[in-house]
Amino acid sequence: MDTIGTHSQSAGEALTELNAPSWVRHEGLKRWVARIAELAQPDAIHWCDGSEQEAEQLCRKLEAAGTLRRLNPQKRPNSWLAWSDPEDVARVEDRTFICSEREEDAGPTNNWVAPAEMRSTLAGLFRGCMRGRTLYVVPFSMGPLGSPIAQIGVELTDSPYVVVNMRLMTRMGRRVYDVLGEDGFFVPCVHSVGKPLASGQIDVAWPCNSVKYIVHYPETREIWSFGSGYGGNALLGKKCLALRIASTMGRDEGWLAEHMLILGVTSPEGRKMHVAAAFPSACGKTNFAMLIPPPELKGWSVTTIGDDIAWIKPGKDGALYAINPEAGYFGVAPGTGYSTNPNCMDALRENVIFTNVALTDDGDVWWEGMGPEPEHCLDWQGRDWTPGCGRKAAHPNARFTVAADQNPVIDPAWDDPAGVRIDAFVFGGRRSDTVPLVTEARDWVEGVYMAATMGSQTTAAAAGAQGVVRRDPFAMLPFCGYDMKRYFDHWLKLGAKFEGSGVRLPSIYCVNWFQTDDAGRFLWPGFGDNMRVLEWMFRRVEGKAGATESLFGMVPRYQDLDWQGLDFSQPDFDRITRIDPDAWRSELASHSQWFEQLGSPLPTPLLDVHAKLVAQLG
Ligand code: GTP
Ligand code: SPV
Ligand code: MN
Repeated sequence: MDTIGTHSQSAGEALTELNAPSWVRHEGLKRWVARIAELAQPDAIHWCDGSEQEAEQLCRKLEAAGTLRRLNPQKRPNSWLAWSDPEDVARVEDRTFICSEREEDAGPTNNWVAPAEMRSTLAGLFRGCMRGRTLYVVPFSMGPLGSPIAQIGVELTDSPYVVVNMRLMTRMGRRVYDVLGEDGFFVPCVHSVGKPLASGQIDVAWPCNSVKYIVHYPETREIWSFGSGYGGNALLGKKCLALRIASTMGRDEGWLAEHMLILGVTSPEGRKMHVAAAFPSACGKTNFAMLIPPPELKGWSVTTIGDDIAWIKPGKDGALYAINPEAGYFGVAPGTGYSTNPNCMDALRENVIFTNVALTDDGDVWWEGMGPEPEHCLDWQGRDWTPGCGRKAAHPNARFTVAADQNPVIDPAWDDPAGVRIDAFVFGGRRSDTVPLVTEARDWVEGVYMAATMGSQTTAAAAGAQGVVRRDPFAMLPFCGYDMKRYFDHWLKLGAKFEGSGVRLPSIYCVNWFQTDDAGRFLWPGFGDNMRVLEWMFRRVEGKAGATESLFGMVPRYQDLDWQGLDFSQPDFDRITRIDPDAWRSELASHSQWFEQLGSPLPTPLLDVHAKLVAQLG
């Protein structure tokens, strides 16, 4: 603990003291830390133990630096607020790189630079980049500690904000070293905000750099991140390790790393199923994973295994089992309130780090959609805010960081290393038109086609234009660590393995909660009412619910859904479930363009589905 904010050293002095505690026995790890310290030249090295005192001390240090503000303990015990630099508010997809040896292995949807060239660029950027700061060694496990499916990472970062977030988002701390032992494998993750301090220079509240690089070397399983302190750019266990690097591991080893929530759903008869659902960033995963069924749907309940990432592996019985590699939620605040997601609001009562939400006059937080507007607050940039002032109080990608065990509907098996058996996959985008409320794929290949061609409007979760429909296959466009065509093939092969095995493949569904009317209002009530669609899926898997055939798979008829407690007319239902031939002609044309963009060889079964759909539509 003595290294926090002490041990100062002027530039040009000899090497930073390694300071490794006796409980770190991994010589390779120590050599690597020494090498990075020699490059980045931090003032001090702090080996994180993950303890509560350490977190408390770091938060107080962040408070002194102006990065964190303690919220009113009466309103929000043990909770903190951070406001980021307005230039550092979301993932930066155009600065994210997959540096495989061969460009074609990264594929046409990833930014690629040759590893040697990238290594030399990064060496230049990292040289001296931690001067005036402390380098924190953050050991973490993605997946239950010590379980055979977990992956260990060690993040070296100069951001104490990252450390306290990683502690909530992963299993972080000293116990990781027991698992690592003297020579265990870990994914090395190097992170810097990219803002060295000259001797005596006062720090800013949110240090970052306008030059940003989020870099992955899939073959050597390494991650380097420079210039950003925000979310997936900086919490390297999440998108970088658990998706981009892990998807590559999964390709090589026969499993899947997916941008999916995992939920358990229990019927009134006490039967339980598990669903894994992929929606793009800020498209409703956290909400669906914590859904509260309408009271009229008596006896149904939903429990959460995960809200963002699923690792899925075939079990000994041949079925697919999913685990959530994370230990916390980094969720979208705006749009989350007691009327839309009460479970989530209950999870946020205490021990939360909020980023880029508004600060109320009584020292609590507020964001759009949380509840009644305050008469006055400070917006996410610290400016006075009043209702009708024409600005949003919270940034649209404002987030909360909270440990998963604060979720009141956490599933008892949420950290079971064996995982939960998946009965259905759901894919859903944000589409104001064209894509129906729900369809069921007639077979695995059609389901993979649906997922591979999924479109969604872009959201504030990534920097850049918003509300533009783009193809986001499997909600993995920004997160797949290798060529998307091979990824499709990987999914197809996984399905093919089930043939003749006697094991039932999970059903595949495609959903869209986001159709709007001419005035831009959502046509489907969404949130808890999504239970009606989930109930239909459950009954379909049981073989008990009806459906009718459409161009794009099986769809429920009005009478196939449970409408108790909701006034939703048949014409309204028809409107959101119909397939409009003209809209689908252009949709299918856009699928063709997408396939062309992906290049060849595209798996033939997907081209066959496309040809069949085109022929059917005429
Ligand atoms: P990432 O953490 O970025 O991967 O996102 P996510 O998929 O977990 O998104 P989240 O559940 O946090 O939802 C993002 C936004 O979608 C919030 O503003 C929600 O209010 C909104 N949302 C979620 N579910 C629904 C729904 O059923 N209908 C509508 N209209 N909006 C929804
Ligand atoms: C997403 O953008 O899909 C997220 C948030 O879950 S971040 O961790 O920033 O990637
Ligand atoms: Mn996500």
